[in-house]
Amino acid sequence: MSKNTLTITDNRTDKTYELPITNDTINAMELRQIKVNPEDFGMLSYDPAFKNTASTKSTITYIDGGKGILRYRGYPIEQLAEKGNFLEVAYLLIFGELPNEQQYAEWKHEITHHTFVHENIKNLMEAFRYDSHPMGMFIATVAAMSTFYPEARDIFDEEARLKQIHRLIAKVPTIAAFSYRHTRGLPYVYPDNDLSYTGNFLSMLDRMTQLKYEPNPVLERALDVLFILHADHEQNCGTSAMRVIGSSHTDPYTAMAGAAAALYGPLHGGANEAVLRMLLEIGDLKNVPAFVKGVKNRERLLMGFGHRVYKNYDPRATLVKNIADQVFEVTGKNPLLDIALELERIAREDEFFVERNLYPNVDFYSGIIYQAMRFPVSMFPVLFAIPRTVGWLAQWIEMLEDKEQKIARPRQVYLGSDSRDFVAMNDRK
Ligand code: ACO
Repeated sequence: MSKNTLTITDNRTDKTYELPITNDTINAMELRQIKVNPEDFGMLSYDPAFKNTASTKSTITYIDGGKGILRYRGYPIEQLAEKGNFLEVAYLLIFGELPNEQQYAEWKHEITHHTFVHENIKNLMEAFRYDSHPMGMFIATVAAMSTFYPEARDIFDEEARLKQIHRLIAKVPTIAAFSYRHTRGLPYVYPDNDLSYTGNFLSMLDRMTQLKYEPNPVLERALDVLFILHADHEQNCGTSAMRVIGSSHTDPYTAMAGAAAALYGPLHGGANEAVLRMLLEIGDLKNVPAFVKGVKNRERLLMGFGHRVYKNYDPRATLVKNIADQVFEVTGKNPLLDIALELERIAREDEFFVERNLYPNVDFYSGIIYQAMRFPVSMFPVLFAIPRTVGWLAQWIEMLEDKEQKIARPRQVYLGSDSRDFVAMNDRK
């Protein structure tokens, strides 16, 4: 009869250990019983970049990277993007179920009525240099928000926690829009609570002298769908940062500033910015083959390609490509699209990319849409951080409520000097 266990033989000692298998995993702590002698610390697993380590059990997001499947709380991303709106998906991610009519109305009311920021936050943002990167402003301002809401430190008080969740989801578009207006030297636009989540965001970005701003419905919906697609993606770099920082029981604003900082990097949420810079650098269809040659010679990365989890087409990339067509009908086609399509065509046929399962990820086409919508490239990571706020918060609550979680603290394999005596300055070489 087959058993749900793993048998390990330590050839150093000829001892055999039988470890239980639960949910197709072994508990890494079980390895510690494997010792050469009683003083031995016990076996550790070595896993730089956590390539094969599950850091948590989760019920939020499911990805099958081989098949290109993404689901939030069991719902396929394609259905959520087609039939849902961002705020109901946010509710789903935070609370686990889609809201009924009354729950949705209350949720929408709470989010809509927390969109304003304290005037001092506005003043604080005004102090940034005129050419500050909006993502740097965003990260710093989210961190600063913790000083405005000291009760946020009460992370085990469910009511206080919910209040910070409302505030964060409601205020991130405001902070994002202020950071954009700041880099443009334009006056900040206060939220308009009559508009939808993305409609209000567009208003805070664009509004000039209009008495009433009317967002373009196609762009409003396109942004809403893009927000749905970016809302969560299980234990990626930024989300892991949120959980690790949150595991020390810091407040959600400070933890989220750390998560956003992780997202900022070009290998993660900064990739859509990097894709656009890459496409601009290629500049013309005729330069694509030479660029691809450089990638294959390992001089460059093909930004927007490859993913730690997806070894198939990123399902979000397919959906983003569809949105592009709708957006271009309003904005006119982005000429960079042809370069992107040609890069994808070559990469999909070329052995180098095929062998390595390198497919476009969500960021390959999102930047082209954002640029067509006239967002500056530096705003791209900020546009990622707004919806990801929801995922970070959902994962943060799950971490806090998980009795198996403790402060995150990995081990290391020490390979440095053995103990040695201090050498006086004059005696050093
Ligand atoms: N261009 C060229 N080669 C690549 C690329 C790329 N974009 N991505 C991976 N490879 C190659 C690697 O060099 C490696 O080749 P080798 O086995 O011959 O050495 C192989 O493919 C496997 O790649 P890894 O680096 O091991 O994959 P990993 O899972 O560590 O990295 C990552 C994933 C960081 C996303 C990587 O694919 C990458 O840098 N992509 C470009 C940046 C990007 O688009 N990031 C956005 C990710 S999506 C997101 O965060 C929202």
